[in-house]
Amino acid sequence: MKLKLILATALLAIGASVSAQTIIKFSHVVAADTPKGKASVFFAQKAAELTKGKVKVEVYANSALYKDKEEMEALQIGSVHMLAPSLAKFGPLGVKEFEAFDLPFIFDDTADLHKVTQGPVGAALMAKLEPRGIKGLAYWDNGFKAFSANTPLKAVADYKGKKFRIQSSKVLEEEIRSIGGIAQVMAFSEVYQALQTGVVDGTENPISNFYTQKMHEVQKHLTLTNHGYLGYAVIANKKFWDGLPADVRGQLEQAMKEATVYANKIAQEENDMALEGVKKSGKTTVYVPTKEERLALKKAMAPVHTKMAERVGKETLEQIYQATGFDPTKL
Ligand code: LMR
Repeated sequence: MKLKLILATALLAIGASVSAQTIIKFSHVVAADTPKGKASVFFAQKAAELTKGKVKVEVYANSALYKDKEEMEALQIGSVHMLAPSLAKFGPLGVKEFEAFDLPFIFDDTADLHKVTQGPVGAALMAKLEPRGIKGLAYWDNGFKAFSANTPLKAVADYKGKKFRIQSSKVLEEEIRSIGGIAQVMAFSEVYQALQTGVVDGTENPISNFYTQKMHEVQKHLTLTNHGYLGYAVIANKKFWDGLPADVRGQLEQAMKEATVYANKIAQEENDMALEGVKKSGKTTVYVPTKEERLALKKAMAPVHTKMAERVGKETLEQIYQATGFDPTKL
């Protein structure tokens, strides 16, 4: 009888702890073996460890749950709890200041970028998400973009008349226009097929995205232009996040802090490894532009800054220029 009582109590306790577990659905659109893919799994592991199993983060990679545009809507209605969209994807949401990150050549390197993402400008941008029901948690790096196509891309004239897939961003549309190309907005999960079938001629992305989506199988030329940046904001549904018990929220914030250090540490390594993979495949010729070719691209794209200043917000732009020392008039 006594044993039965002990057993029943133990089962009840297990039942209670199971039902008390919080599930966090974390969705993203890239492959698992990318900087974002690996960092989200790292966060899930840390979250389980620090909350002692009270929280289980389920990571869904490769658009398994939602495509680009849908994931943002899903987060706002609470069907998914966390995302890490690229910064470009906040423009269509109405927070156009984030499109400043898409401006060509705005950051020389990661150190420049971190002056913004890890400083007051980055924090002020995150705060702009709150009225949209979104809690900004961290910035995760990916890297600088390369252009690809089936024909060599060296001189600016080589881009003329070609159709390039871009993320939904007015700044990126203008970037492609500035070099005579035709911009085609498309969800990330559809790019491989569009390249394969010739719906578009080329695309731009950091190499880790290019390689893990196997785009090198359907693109003959890759030029390491480093003409723009692509990175992420890790976000949560604000109501859900604020509703978590304070101790659990604190543990998740700590997990996010550690995941961010990890994400930003591996981003460059992942891109370097992906580049090796592309080279080894022998399917895509990798080209490093000369100093002159890169400068010509920079000059052609420079007017995008003035054209888009009104849209992204002059104040934000000035703050970024001040933080990084970038001066678009000095090109
Ligand atoms: C893209 O759509 O090209 C990127 O935003 C994908 C990603 O999340 O890195």
